Amino acid sequence: MKQQLEEIRESAHEMLAAASSPAELEALRVKFLGKKGELTAILKQMGKLSAQERPVIGQLANDVRSFIEKEISDRSEQLKAIEVKERLEKEKLDVTMPGKHHILGQKHPLSIVLDELKEIFLGMGFSIATGPEVETDYYNFQALNIPKNHPARDTQDTFYINDNILLRTQTSSVQIRVMEKQKPPIRVIAPGRVYRSDAVDATHSPLFHQIEGLVVDKGVTMADLKGTLEIFAQRLYGKDSVVRFRPHHFPFTEPSAEMDIQCFACHGQGCRLCKGEGWIEILGCGMVHPKVLSTCGIDPEEYSGFAFGIGLERIVMRRFNIDDLRLFYENDLRFLNQF
Ligand code: DAH
Repeated sequence: MKQQLEEIRESAHEMLAAASSPAELEALRVKFLGKKGELTAILKQMGKLSAQERPVIGQLANDVRSFIEKEISDRSEQLKAIEVKERLEKEKLDVTMPGKHHILGQKHPLSIVLDELKEIFLGMGFSIATGPEVETDYYNFQALNIPKNHPARDTQDTFYINDNILLRTQTSSVQIRVMEKQKPPIRVIAPGRVYRSDAVDATHSPLFHQIEGLVVDKGVTMADLKGTLEIFAQRLYGKDSVVRFRPHHFPFTEPSAEMDIQCFACHGQGCRLCKGEGWIEILGCGMVHPKVLSTCGIDPEEYSGFAFGIGLERIVMRRFNIDDLRLFYENDLRFLNQF
């Protein structure tokens, strides 16, 4: 028995030293010390021993048990240390490595300024309306008091899809769609793309953007139009900006005007930026024509309104000193990355 115990001690020592994982260690613990383990099997035979032998073997068995227990816990500590060391080596982090740069997209200059315009009008209680870019003749022209053969059609070189369907030449079409659906009070802006078959050059593009505005309510006057658009100009170009309204003609407004902003480079003296004019036109506007109101089922005796149309490209070009509109559509990153 004594020899058996010594053999157990020997083989436990060898096997534990070779164990390479916590699972293996546990299996060995069961093999030697478990209920059906080798040491237990020997202790079960103690009854057969004589009274002198029993304490000696008992003592030895206890020694072997504590020896194995100690070896298991030592080996377990070792394995943990090895695991930590291996992990540290594998996960080595070189803080001097150069970082990986991801190219981030950013807002297009047209979107930057459009978002600003929206903010300004939302702050004045406007909401945002939309309409289709593929429109019918009715919404783009007829309902806006531009019947067939009206000379105003010539100034808007239209992409016709057929006699009746076209690409909208102005966001004014959205005015009609809003008034058909919504009863006054109305206070909306409608930003969007418009199309005209213009040849491409530094100031013309067959696709460009407008922001339409429409206010309809009881007792709306030209003073409301001027006040709203003056505040708009000041928010956009700064408190000191000066505007003027010049009489003009649009078929869907009466009276009609264009709003100019005093050139902030020369303060009205005339310079290269304003082409010697001293003023720069930024929008068309006017009081909604009574015919347009009644076409949309709004009684012009009861309600009145004003409308305006802003060309987005021109405003953005002024803002960032861009002299060629084609840059907006070419998607050249050297241009876009400057904003
Ligand atoms: N639709 C006009 C254009 O494209 C701009 C415009 C002028 C819109 C006066 C309006 C307005 O709503 O009242 O030239």
